[in-house]
Amino acid sequence: MLDQLHQLPADPILGLAAMARADSRADKVDLTVGIYMDEAGVCPVFKAVRDAQGLLAQEETTKAYLPPAGVEGFNQGMQKLLLGADHRALLDGRVSSVQAPGGCGALRIGAEIIHAATPGATVWVSDPTWPVHIPLLGSVGLQFANYRYYDPASHGVNFEGMVEDLKGAGAGDVVLLHGCCHNPCGADLSLEQWSVVADMAEAQGFLPFIDIAYQGLGDGLDDDAAGLRLLAGRLPELIVAASCSKNMGLYRERTGAAMFICRDQQNAQALVSQALVAARRIYSMPPAHGALIAGRILGDPVLDAAWRSELVEMCSRINGLRSDLRSKLEAASGRDFAFIEKEKGMFSFLGLSAEQAVKLREDYGVYMLNSSRINVAGVNAGNIDYLAESVAAVL
Ligand code: LMR
Repeated sequence: MLDQLHQLPADPILGLAAMARADSRADKVDLTVGIYMDEAGVCPVFKAVRDAQGLLAQEETTKAYLPPAGVEGFNQGMQKLLLGADHRALLDGRVSSVQAPGGCGALRIGAEIIHAATPGATVWVSDPTWPVHIPLLGSVGLQFANYRYYDPASHGVNFEGMVEDLKGAGAGDVVLLHGCCHNPCGADLSLEQWSVVADMAEAQGFLPFIDIAYQGLGDGLDDDAAGLRLLAGRLPELIVAASCSKNMGLYRERTGAAMFICRDQQNAQALVSQALVAARRIYSMPPAHGALIAGRILGDPVLDAAWRSELVEMCSRINGLRSDLRSKLEAASGRDFAFIEKEKGMFSFLGLSAEQAVKLREDYGVYMLNSSRINVAGVNAGNIDYLAESVAAVL
């Protein structure tokens, strides 16, 4: 029965990360997976996370299952983090959420809910989008349409193209939006553009589904959620998939939340019941450790303040790296890389062809995705010159 199953190709992101790990060249540079690395090339544990973890280790009395919706303090904390504590939708009681195994688990729960409401609904995704969106949502049975998003010529958002394409999205359709720090291109919508999307959703009736995995890594926790908050204030319905992988560094703990903003409290609760039934048939209940840590941080003013200041430091280091990388690339190549400084979060396209990306990997040990997406947070003082020279050499 099983011998008919053949070997599948490696994941386009994780497979390249494995190749980079296996490369024995001392000067290799791994800019593949979106993981924050410090100056020493290590993905650090936040001090606030260590402290919360220490407290939990002392207090923990059981490893019994979590309730299916997860850690209550985490769910409440995430709603406030995403929406702001005094958001109208929260005060009106029309928000609910469940803990999920990472942002991916949250996306999956969102997709299950959408499929339950409208089997085979069309999800409009940005061109390009995170490649995992397609199998993650598509395996539930949802269909896809593309909307124009990134313009390689201007290295920015093609908002006119986006609006024109989204005119085709109607009631029963879903529009998947990156809350901030677009993955893979780093080009985000302005607040005015979010407002146009809200106008279109109101007029045309499509459901926005926001994937926000990088809150706090662009312009700060509140600014990065401004588009989401605007939509939540204006629209009757919204689904959000959030992750604590990057902004709390809880990658391996698989800590995420699926949040529903609904017409009223009753519908918000109905969606939790739908989410729990979907979760039961996929993974039963979420893992505890990461959400206990995140819930502890979000619920404790001292830990929360400490975490926020560590995150600000991380975010400003990334923005500093963007500006250093721009200067180094421009100096090495004589070309314009100003766009790197304008983009947000961990990712940017360098604007190279797949052949150039492969050449960088093979001849220089510089690893990026074939699309030339780089993880800016993998750059440091020790590798930036070599990176810039290598890129200039293949241009
Ligand atoms: C990425 O895009 O590199 C991250 O979101 C990690 C992943 O799972 O792909």
